[in-house]
Amino acid sequence: MPKTRHMCGQLTKENLGEEVALKGWVQRRRDHGKLIFIDLRDRSGLVQVVADYEENAAIFREVEGVRSEFVLSVSGRVVLREPETVNPNLPTGELEVRLKSLTVLNTAKTSPFYIEDGVEVDENLRLKYRYLDLRRPEMYAKMRLRHRVALSVRSFLDGQGFLEVETPMLTRSTPEGARDYLVPSRMSAGSFYALPQSPQLFKQLLMVAGLEKYFQIVRCFRDEDLRADRQPEFTQIDMEMSFVEEEDVFALVEAMLAHIYREVLDQDIPIPFPRLSYAEALRRFGTDKPDLRYGMEIRDITGTAGGSGFKVFKQAVEKGGVVRGLNIKGSAHFSRRELDELTGYAVSLGARGMAWFQVTGEGMKSPVVKFFSEEELNGIQEALQAEAGDLLIFIADGEETAAPVLGGLRVHLARQLQLVPPEAGEHFLWVVDYPLLSYDGEEGRYTANHHPFTAPVAADAPLLARDPSRVRARAYDLVLNGVEIGGGSIRNHRRDLQEAVFAALGFSPEEAREQFGFLLKAFEYGAPPHGGIAFGLDRMVMLLAGSSSIRDVIAFPKTARGTCLLTKSPAAVTKEQLADLHLLVREDEEEDDWEEE
Ligand code: AMO
Ligand code: AMP
Repeated sequence: MPKTRHMCGQLTKENLGEEVALKGWVQRRRDHGKLIFIDLRDRSGLVQVVADYEENAAIFREVEGVRSEFVLSVSGRVVLREPETVNPNLPTGELEVRLKSLTVLNTAKTSPFYIEDGVEVDENLRLKYRYLDLRRPEMYAKMRLRHRVALSVRSFLDGQGFLEVETPMLTRSTPEGARDYLVPSRMSAGSFYALPQSPQLFKQLLMVAGLEKYFQIVRCFRDEDLRADRQPEFTQIDMEMSFVEEEDVFALVEAMLAHIYREVLDQDIPIPFPRLSYAEALRRFGTDKPDLRYGMEIRDITGTAGGSGFKVFKQAVEKGGVVRGLNIKGSAHFSRRELDELTGYAVSLGARGMAWFQVTGEGMKSPVVKFFSEEELNGIQEALQAEAGDLLIFIADGEETAAPVLGGLRVHLARQLQLVPPEAGEHFLWVVDYPLLSYDGEEGRYTANHHPFTAPVAADAPLLARDPSRVRARAYDLVLNGVEIGGGSIRNHRRDLQEAVFAALGFSPEEAREQFGFLLKAFEYGAPPHGGIAFGLDRMVMLLAGSSSIRDVIAFPKTARGTCLLTKSPAAVTKEQLADLHLLVREDEEEDDWEEE
């Protein structure tokens, strides 16, 4: 048997006549009388292996015992297939390997699902048998893509003089707005480490340490409600730089992304990326992560609506609200049921109702059309640039409700009507000019929109004590095709300014010292101006791979309930382990084991 191994998917006509050694898994076995065909798979692809009874009866008998997913080591000669058996869909489809020797390295039970691309398999079953799911070529391709993105990030940042530094996983809570995962300490009874929500404070301390350029591809932990683009543990490409301003961060990030797209996808992306203020993003798209691959911008008719005879609109405007809408091009044909469904969706997003107008050749049609004058209807049509065949929908409410509801409807309709052109490409966008703080009515205090370490725009700093809601932040988010892939800011590097922000957030000086004393102290020892950003690596790879869930680009992800179906975690621990950690589990919760999903 030849010593060097060939890869199944890489055999070409160059190998014709050669005797090759292959190792891999049986994709399938097909029996054709005195011929048996095996599709042998390794991570590079498939090749057909043939056992011919006339050529070698002993091997033929052995091959009869082989089943799908058996692990084989084989050798044989590479020949051309008979013309009628050529498979044009397979890179090795013109070739086959005539079997000379065969060793079964391992047998396999029947796989719970067929290991092939494009087969519909319940995701929970895939997660339970993730090692089989990852055997599918498309999953291997995603793992490889992720690896290449990480490699390309490292090579780019290394070239720019960045140092990769590891920061602790057992640490203190870092406020990024989510709940912490806690780790009880055995040696300090009653004390807990927190797993980092991000390395935010450590990377800032590395700037105080004079590293100047830091990055890390790092796991972060956040105990929050999960969605398709959120996992309890996820990976950030985390960066921090000294002596930089916003423009430096933007330029570096744009160059890094251009480098990744060029290296990994062989694709050029246009830089610099466009920018939009937070306020404008909200007004035009109803979200701070707008998808710019399609239009359908939100339009305002508050002026016209307020003067109309339609009570719902009039009253909303009288209360200081707005009336805004969308023009759903060419959708005047929506049936009553479809309109009811759309209204239901708007209500599920928080709207009190939704008004609609069908624009026809004979004017506007709507149950509420009678409340509007000819002139008002014309004004509405004009504001929405409507023409016959269009459907106009409106939400009357406070701006804080109307904007996100219409933003949600816009995304929903774009999906339903497939408004994203197939060749839309990548639409990157910087969102800037965020307010530093938002007032949380429930908690009765201000909270940081990014995190408490973000610097205010210098001119606004005096407002921190007087009118915190008007303070602008030196923060930015990067959005790609409607997904927030990164966020960061220029930081406070002076103790007095950081203390003023803590005060605006409602921390007493003692509380600030208690929680962040180490940071405040570090700022007194020559902290340089600094800023940075962090990207969601999982989200980036998800978009690069064209996947709709980050679970697809994470080798061993968790379910929406935060469970691992493969290892069955989280799991109960012994009484002894609990005792070591000085913990007692309340009896009524002890047996609260999660059901298998
Ligand atoms: P931020 O909280 O915006 O910033 O996080 C940065 C990016 O991480 C990704 N991300 C997530 N991805 C998957 N699952 C999650 N649960 C999850 N949460 C966040 C997003 C997000 O844009 N320390 C700051 C960065 C800085 O200021 O430099 C931070 O963590 O893509
Ligand atoms: P009503 O007066 O509640 O029967 O509503 C009359 C019409 O106005 C219906 O078509 C409702 O769907 C619509 N409507 C109700 N509330 C709103 C709202 N907040 N914004 C837009 N349209 C609404």
